[in-house]
Amino acid sequence: MKDSPGAMELAGAVMKIHTHQRPPILRSTFKGLLLLSVILISISYLSVYKDHLSDYLQSNTSLKQTNPIYRAPLPLEHPNRSFLQHHLAFPRNYHFILDDTDVCRSNTPFLVLVVPVAPSNRKARDAIRKTWGTETLVQGELIQTVFLLGLPSRGNITEQQEHVSMENLQYHDLIQSDFIDSYNNLTIKTMVIMDWLATQCPKVSYAMKIDSDMFLNVENLVSMLKSPGIPKELYLTGMLMWNRPVIRDRSSKWYVPKEMYPDPHYPTYTLGMGYLFSIDLTSTFVEVSKSIEPFNIEDAYIGMCMKKLGLSPTQPPHPDQFRAYLGKYNRCTFSKIITYILGSPQQLVTFWTDLKKPGPPC
Ligand SMILES: *[C@@H]1O[C@H](CO)[C@@H](O)[C@H](O)[C@H]1NC(C)=O
Ligand SMILES: *[C@@H]1O[C@H](CO)[C@@H](O)[C@H](O)[C@H]1NC(C)=O
Ligand SMILES: *[C@@H]1O[C@H](CO)[C@@H](O)[C@H](O)[C@H]1NC(C)=O
Ligand SMILES: *[C@@H]1O[C@H](CO)[C@@H](O)[C@H](O)[C@H]1NC(C)=O
Repeated sequence: MKDSPGAMELAGAVMKIHTHQRPPILRSTFKGLLLLSVILISISYLSVYKDHLSDYLQSNTSLKQTNPIYRAPLPLEHPNRSFLQHHLAFPRNYHFILDDTDVCRSNTPFLVLVVPVAPSNRKARDAIRKTWGTETLVQGELIQTVFLLGLPSRGNITEQQEHVSMENLQYHDLIQSDFIDSYNNLTIKTMVIMDWLATQCPKVSYAMKIDSDMFLNVENLVSMLKSPGIPKELYLTGMLMWNRPVIRDRSSKWYVPKEMYPDPHYPTYTLGMGYLFSIDLTSTFVEVSKSIEPFNIEDAYIGMCMKKLGLSPTQPPHPDQFRAYLGKYNRCTFSKIITYILGSPQQLVTFWTDLKKPGPPC
């Protein structure tokens, strides 16, 4: 588009002042005008920016204190060592405190189920050990379950840590890493899971990240994985989330600030309650995570890893088998689904016992 005549004239005048000899009085007037306009522009810019800035500083303060990932905003591309040391989601920054399980060491399972769980949540672990954790041989395939914990974050830490160690002496199914276990650190936890699988279980076929409050129908899961057409590589499936908006409401548990994740939407991802992947993806996720700025929504972060790899999650053969919530317990429905979010560890034991009783469920 052509400049307006006014602008052309002004430009011409400025050119003249610059290119021709000027009397000193005109030169200092020009300098004064220039200075004045710079000041005016700065003031107007600042006043527009000020509200935003003070709002920004105030509102982000509490977050800075509580959200460790937020505390260190990182450049997007920075794949060198000093970057890695500061990259909070990069799992090799953490060390295992407990890791003496036999899983993947004395055997090669078909499927490994990894349950991220808080150190204090013994009840959830015990419920799983009594229910879907017992399903170790399904349709001739070996299935193993391990729990992944961070460090206790609150209360009597020493005592909790002793309990965790004793529990592991009994079951040898706890893997504990040295990051502090908190809701904000779930992305770290997921990436530690990926790293553990990549290094300890490279020969298994599939793995699943499944939350500790889940009902899991292992039989149906294995049937699905063995059904024709299920990829053996670059495969991620679960309950697919499309075009989900990023939550900008500060009071929300899922709040993510713009400077952590600027896009208004997440890429397609699988809901964190339970997603399955072929084992080749684990080392790929660890590798690609070096170049993805971390944010505290672990399932969407895995979605970002997939996107960066040029991949996307696959819809399961029967999408309605991956349920988040069902209405009431119904034995017939539970016999057909794969996942469902429960209200308590007791519910898991109750529903499981009922589902497994003799007699056709439908
Ligand atoms: C934090 O900073 C961003 C960037 O300006 C802003 O959009 C957001 O509203 C601020 N506050 C909080 C809690 O995010
Ligand atoms: C790695 O990143 C740091 C921090 O940004 C930078 O100072 C350094 O020069 C980089 N080193 C290499 C080898 O690229
Ligand atoms: C924490 O637990 C340890 C070990 O059981 C115990 O010795 C200590 O008194 C406890 N501390 C508190 C504050 O409860
Ligand atoms: C994890 O979260 C807690 C509390 O939210 C925080 O204090 C801690 O520094 C976090 N990060 C790591 C790496 O443990």
